[in-house]
Amino acid sequence: MTDTLTIRRPDDWHVHLRDGAMLSDVVNHTARQFARAIVMPNLKPPVTTVAAGRAYRDRIMAAVDPSLDFTPLMTAYLTDTIAPSELREGKNQGVFTAAKLYPANATTNSAHGVSDIKHIHGVLDAMEDVGMPLLLHGEVTHKDVDIFDREAIFIDEVMVGLVREHPGLKIVFEHITTKEAADFVAEAGDNVAATITPHHLRYNRNAIFEGGIRPHYYCLPIAKREKHRLALRKAATSGSHKFFLGTDTAPHAVGAKESACGCAGVFNAPYALESYALTFQEEGALDKLEKFASINGPKFYGLPLNEGTITLSKKDQKVPERLTLSETDIIPFHAGETLSWSVS
Ligand code: NCD
Ligand code: ZN
Repeated sequence: MTDTLTIRRPDDWHVHLRDGAMLSDVVNHTARQFARAIVMPNLKPPVTTVAAGRAYRDRIMAAVDPSLDFTPLMTAYLTDTIAPSELREGKNQGVFTAAKLYPANATTNSAHGVSDIKHIHGVLDAMEDVGMPLLLHGEVTHKDVDIFDREAIFIDEVMVGLVREHPGLKIVFEHITTKEAADFVAEAGDNVAATITPHHLRYNRNAIFEGGIRPHYYCLPIAKREKHRLALRKAATSGSHKFFLGTDTAPHAVGAKESACGCAGVFNAPYALESYALTFQEEGALDKLEKFASINGPKFYGLPLNEGTITLSKKDQKVPERLTLSETDIIPFHAGETLSWSVS
């Protein structure tokens, strides 16, 4: 058994850093492990302009510990009315790395999202033209579709047509949760890739209901059946260049989770790499972790690989039951568990 594992410094291709006091409290958990992160734009109000993207990036940099070498990569929040010129300008000015499509009302702060993809073909043409990746929250939102089927139905209703109509557009199917999505991405062209979270690799939908309702396991897309978790583990550890690390770390105050209408999201940033390492070890694929965490993502985005390395050691560490932050407490992923890997 290997006792240490040194890999090129990784990036996180999907994070929620929030704003205000919460931003200051959470950002260094990400910056400690990752050199760069794709920052989601679902603030209130959402990041829909180049000016808002630049201002948010400034607030993030002001909150990052100056001893850490961290670059936030900003995203635009697509709406039915966003102008193609906003994306072109965002790219030209070096502010927007990608744009995020939330189907309207699919998840946290997505009320301003896209109500029908046909409204944004001009925007997608512009993105295709400038080589800006489209990041998709891949779920339909119709009330008659079962919550556990939303991702698979999105593939048939939206993805297939999107890929056909925009063959040159880079698309990241974010935080995939189903075998259908893993298969779709594996079979699609090289312009289609996917991120996979640490939590969807570790638990299936039973965890949300084990002995009672467990709000800290609730996130969107919701965890699925065991066969889907196994398919995700296979995809992540396969060595395929189409799958890469995106934690979807999504902190919410403990009271907002433990509530009659609890928020969706798992705060996994503090122990993200340790969690992925455990999964890769269990799958006998520690040699594939570097590709997933540090190589596939930048190659897909057309960005340079990071210099420098990070070392994981086979050393137990106890994850706290809760993290006390400046304004609120947050329950981290793996709370109360002992993880067998530690980042040196
Ligand atoms: C995210 C959040 O809280 O912003 N929640 C989640 O469950 N993943 C939004 C999202 O990515 O869907
Ligand atoms: Zn997310």
